[in-house]
Amino acid sequence: MRNPFTPRSLPLILAGRDADLSLIDQVLTPVAVTRQPAEGAVVLHGVRGIGKTSILRAAATRAASEQGLTAVWTSAAKGQSYLPALATSIRRTLESSGIVAPGTWSLDEIGVNLGPVKATARRNRQKPVPHPEFNVGAVEEMLRSASTLCAEHGGARGGGMLLLMDEMQAASRADLAILLNALQNISHDQQGAPPFAFVAAGLPSVRGAITSAATFGERTAFRSIKSLDQDATRLALVETARESGVSLSNEAIDLLWSTTQGYPFFVQLYGFHTWAAASLSKKKIITLADAQRGVATAQNDVNELFAARLSAAAKAERAMMTAIAQLGGDEPVKRLDLADALGKSTQSISSVRSQLIDKAVLTEEERGYIQFTLPGFAQYVLEQA
Ligand SMILES: Nc1ncnc2c1ncn2[C@@H]1O[C@H](COP(=O)(O)OP(=O)(O)O)[C@@H](O)[C@H]1O
Ligand SMILES: [Mg+2]
Repeated sequence: MRNPFTPRSLPLILAGRDADLSLIDQVLTPVAVTRQPAEGAVVLHGVRGIGKTSILRAAATRAASEQGLTAVWTSAAKGQSYLPALATSIRRTLESSGIVAPGTWSLDEIGVNLGPVKATARRNRQKPVPHPEFNVGAVEEMLRSASTLCAEHGGARGGGMLLLMDEMQAASRADLAILLNALQNISHDQQGAPPFAFVAAGLPSVRGAITSAATFGERTAFRSIKSLDQDATRLALVETARESGVSLSNEAIDLLWSTTQGYPFFVQLYGFHTWAAASLSKKKIITLADAQRGVATAQNDVNELFAARLSAAAKAERAMMTAIAQLGGDEPVKRLDLADALGKSTQSISSVRSQLIDKAVLTEEERGYIQFTLPGFAQYVLEQA
């Protein structure tokens, strides 16, 4: 029987995300109704493995089916320019949804290839055109023209365009500034602009990046994505197994809840190994013994991950990890208390703290409070200390 748990891809069942999806709905519904741009954007933020991409994908599907919006999916990547990728995604989406004929929508027309770049291209046709030059005006024009096309050709429901951006924190400051200013110009132009909305997701650092890049931040609904609660975790496990006609004993569910603490990646990973341990061809129920064996295998996987993190840490980083583990375990620790425990000022611990946040070992969800990103890491650190 095929294992329905998905530690590396989108979940079969998206449990416990109704509130997040309805927040996005609240922003998208007026776009479809008024046929104007959304008044603000939505930015989901949270640590890796918490389920941001899964929510974003679900939102894209819903926007298409419920609001008739054409969803353009983009994902930023470190060291790659985002804006050319954005242009490509828009073109591909418009082409594949039949809004424009292949090859008819070009950046050229909307003035993205500006000035010297275009001139070079014309003078020497053999040479590949270098990166087009993007500026606020060109990106704004690109989004407006694409949204207008989506609204005109979007079928019976009218629609417009929804731009989705995953891994937002990975975009360069320069790309982000251009994008956010373009988005801001469109959302300020409530009367003249076509129906358009922007929903993004990123690591916790994305908040700071946005607020420093543009006043755009003021109209953005920032939404912190958290682990699943006990009910949602149970639902994720039960519903995922039920798709294949398998059930779980209450004891098995309890064990998986207490070991994963609802962290979505762990729910899938532990679920996956539990399923694999259950030899389900003979029976249709997952027992406590199956879960115990699954948890042990999953913990081996996770310990390897923990070990890699710990061995990559410098001495000062290790000291900080140990102090956090002792003070708070998996729970948030006050920055001030941490500095005290290390016998230092909050100033002087800040660079180590930032390094660990960049390495995704720590996260600061609430200002002044830091915690480990992965449940169970605190205990591992204490065992190794
Ligand atoms: N609501 C959910 N219910 C069950 N599993 C989920 C849920 N959200 C995410 N997952 C699972 O958690 C893992 C991480 O999800 P993902 O969306 O990629 O997180 P992120 O983008 O925050 O790193 C994936 O294995 C996915 O299948
Ligand atoms: Mg993701």
